[in-house]
Order: sequence, then C-alpha cells, then structure tokens
Amino acid sequence: MINRMILRFLSVADNVGLARVAVAQLAAPIGFSLSDLEEIKVAVSEAVSNAIIHGYQGRADGWVEVVASVVDDELTVSVEDWGVGIADIAKAREPAYSTDPERMGLGFVFMESFMHSLVVESAPGRGTRVEMRRKAHVGALSRDVQ
Ligand SMILES: Nc1ncnc2c1ncn2[C@@H]1O[C@H](COP(=O)(O)OP(=O)(O)O)[C@@H](O)[C@H]1O
Ligand SMILES: [Mg+2]
Repeated sequence: MINRMILRFLSVADNVGLARVAVAQLAAPIGFSLSDLEEIKVAVSEAVSNAIIHGYQGRADGWVEVVASVVDDELTVSVEDWGVGIADIAKAREPAYSTDPERMGLGFVFMESFMHSLVVESAPGRGTRVEMRRKAHVGALSRDVQ
C-alpha cells in the first residue's frame, strides 16, 4: 500500500494537535498498535513544537510543512520550517540540551526513541527539516540514528 499527505499550516501553537492527529490517521492502516500510534504522535508533536517555538520563536506567521507517507509497512514523516535554523545540530540533539532554560531539552530524545530513524538537516537563517521513519510490525525499536 502507498499513501502520502502534505500538510502546510501557520506556526500557531494549536496546530500541533492538527499535525499529530493527521499523521496518526495516515499511519493507522499499516498495522501500528494504539500505543505505537501514541508514540508516533509524541514524536510529531515534538518536531512541530520545535518548528513553532524555536524555528519561528513563537511568531505565528511562519509556515510549517509536514509531509507523511506510508509505503508498505513503513511510515516516513518530515517536518520543515523556514525559521532561524540550528547552528550546532549535534549539540542540539544532546539529551537535556536546550537553548531555553525553561525547557527540558528532550524533544530530539523522544523523536529518536519513538521512531526507528531520525535525520536532522538545518542551516542558520534558512530553517530546519527533520525526517523520521518507523516500521509497523517491528518488536523492540532498533534505532538507526544519524
Ligand atoms: N526547528 C528548530 N529550529 C531552530 N532550533 C531548533 C529547532 N528544533 C530544535 N532546535 C534547537 O534544538 C534544541 C533542542 O531541542 P529539543 O531536544 O526539542 O529540546 P527543547 O525543545 O526542550 O529545547 C532547542 O532548544 C533549540 O535550540
Ligand atoms: Mg523541543
């Protein structure tokens, strides 16, 4: 089976809910359990929140694009913003690292734990794109972190 979705929305905080529901709905038919889908929703929420909070620094006038596809038993989700970008991606991905002292710095950790792979591309002043993949029908998550 093949299905694909492109969702583009403004960087309004409430749209996090829209993105997570849409991706879960697209992913459901390929055999994820309800708890798998909950984990996928958390990963999508973290990526979209980052685009809004960090990428656009809370401004509500930036575009966020979520592209999701299911091919056979694999879900691929990318989340892209055209905001401030990340200067040091390796540092940003470290557990408990955040540029905001009020935050936990665990967003990338959740994305890595709940998906099978995570790729982060970013350039300061240009924006950020994260791509995550997860296969259905897989027991313990074996991570392929890049
Ligand atoms: N889309 C983004 N645009 C700009 N910076 C980002 C983006 N996503 C993540 N970052 C940077 O990476 C850091 C770590 O992200 P994360 O692990 O989600 O932790 P938190 O959101 O709690 O700070 C953020 O504090 C921020 O500096
Ligand atoms: Mg975060």
